[in-house]
Amino acid sequence: MQDFQTPEWICNIMVSLIDSYPQKILEPTPGEGNLVNAIHNKYPNTEIIKSNNFETQKLIKVDYVIANPPFSPMSIGYKMLNKFFYFSGNIIVIMPWLSIINSEKRTDMYIKKGLEKVIHLPRSVFKGSRVQTCILKFKDGYSDNITLSFISSCNRKQSVDINNWL
Ligand SMILES: C[S@@+](CC[C@H](N)C(=O)[O-])C[C@H]1O[C@@H](n2cnc3c(N)ncnc32)[C@H](O)[C@@H]1O
Repeated sequence: MQDFQTPEWICNIMVSLIDSYPQKILEPTPGEGNLVNAIHNKYPNTEIIKSNNFETQKLIKVDYVIANPPFSPMSIGYKMLNKFFYFSGNIIVIMPWLSIINSEKRTDMYIKKGLEKVIHLPRSVFKGSRVQTCILKFKDGYSDNITLSFISSCNRKQSVDINNWL
């Protein structure tokens, strides 16, 4: 079964969304470690906590949760994100687009949790996936306009330096 590891260029974009040098980051579903590597490359002094099994992960406070959780079924990803909020107010996560459009209650909850950015990902990022995904960035206390950006697979090289074009 495919489990859709995150390509390096997407990991780099996710890491570029971190606001300031973090002391501690939780990667709750590290898989082959692509996100962990991207975090370490940009922030070598950051302690990265990797859950072998997020179900049994001890509750700790971290500066960021950065994740691409499993979505089969989608409810697993939704439940994991709900749990991430106990670990940090700063979350950068890949989620199905549906997570923000198919339930008004969930969308309202995400906005209250400080949804700051929604970044559309091209379908080709996860080849063979039937799930259209986006990156959601949450910042505790954020209540201003939510930015929506689109990343296209054709100019992905530019998109690594996200601030230059989003
Ligand atoms: C969509 S993949 C992403 C992997 C990695 N985070 C990345 O960004 O490349 C989801 C990963 O979560 C792992 N996983 C599934 N359930 C988990 C759990 N309860 N605890 C920790 N990891 C889990 C799977 O093995 C899979 O590699």
